[in-house]
Amino acid sequence: MNRTPQLLFVVGARPNFVKAAPVLAAARAGGDLDCLLVHSGQHYDAAMSQLFFEDLSMPDPDIYLEVGSGSHAEQTAAVMRRLEPVLEERRPHGVIVFGDVNSTLAAALTAAKLGLPVAHVEAGLRSFDDRMPEEINRRLTDSVSELLFATEASAIDNLRREGIAPERVHLVGNTMIDSLLGGLEEARRRRPAVCAKLGLADDAYAVLTLHRPSNVDDADVLRALWGAIRELANRLPVVFPVHPRTRARLAAGGLAESDLAALKLCEPLGYLDFLGLLDGARLVLTDSGGIQEETTVLGVPCLTLRENTERPVTLSHGTNRLVGCAAAAVSAAALEVLESAPSANATRPPLWDGYAAERLVEVLRKRFVR
Ligand code: UD1
Repeated sequence: MNRTPQLLFVVGARPNFVKAAPVLAAARAGGDLDCLLVHSGQHYDAAMSQLFFEDLSMPDPDIYLEVGSGSHAEQTAAVMRRLEPVLEERRPHGVIVFGDVNSTLAAALTAAKLGLPVAHVEAGLRSFDDRMPEEINRRLTDSVSELLFATEASAIDNLRREGIAPERVHLVGNTMIDSLLGGLEEARRRRPAVCAKLGLADDAYAVLTLHRPSNVDDADVLRALWGAIRELANRLPVVFPVHPRTRARLAAGGLAESDLAALKLCEPLGYLDFLGLLDGARLVLTDSGGIQEETTVLGVPCLTLRENTERPVTLSHGTNRLVGCAAAAVSAAALEVLESAPSANATRPPLWDGYAAERLVEVLRKRFVR
């Protein structure tokens, strides 16, 4: 008797959970795919993992690899070593990976070397900056994937240039935006309580996130950015949910405690609390990839503290602006946003409509359900 096709979903870090939840739900809904969820354990703090599972109504992982933190090589190797026996035992029909984190590449490599088809969700994005570990993860994951699911048209061009056969590439839209649109009502409902807890007036605050090694690992860059952020906090309150790696770097630089009441450092927030906060913000400053996309859909001005973005559609269609990480440029751009009227020019990129996961799972069905 033929067994039901089994797909193994591998997630590891915060942004993976947001991208995977709607795909897993859509794949399980049909009843014709047997889906297993593997959590590598790359993110393991409750605020970085469990809270996201709860907010996204994602079932507990079927398998937890508990790899934890480490250098890039250690973390990638740990996922590979622990995933290989799982794949050998289960022999799934396909392995689905998400985004660009170390767990993504580790799972894709392990599966491909066992001859298992890999599907990459959020394929083809390129910053063309190999100093970002994520860029290496993206390119290598794409190169061993059989099915490549793209969120935006630039990804299709990038993959074509890299010689990937067009029939393997599917522009389906953005599953992270499926999660956003699904959770927005509840996030808005929660916002007053979140704002009250942080001592904020609704609508009169900025949100900051910072975790890229290029911004937080160099003490001089971090100190200069800190100056620009303090300057902004003199104009309006800045909420800063601090990633654990940034917390450690701030502490090392003697910056861990805010001496300004308007600069509000807090622990990382859960998905819905953070989404509600983003939605109500006057301005967002970030070095995250996903937040550039979320602010685009929410129509909230976003200043990206990087020199490049792998998500150019957020510049052409959205509210995103690249400002780099020089303090003067960050301050000037923030001031400009605060002094201009909110713009209504942003448009939602094609297929960022809340149905990306359904389109994606249709392709998976065609490939795996015969
Ligand atoms: C990872 C991804 C990055 C993504 C980010 C989202 C890679 C290369 N980077 O970066 O692309 O934007 O997740 O948040 O995969 N830590 C904890 N608790 C946790 C997880 C991490 O304290 O639950 C601390 C550890 O000290 C760890 C450090 O944070 O060493 C960095 O974690 P890691 O998963 O290596 O990378 P991120 O910076 O989170």
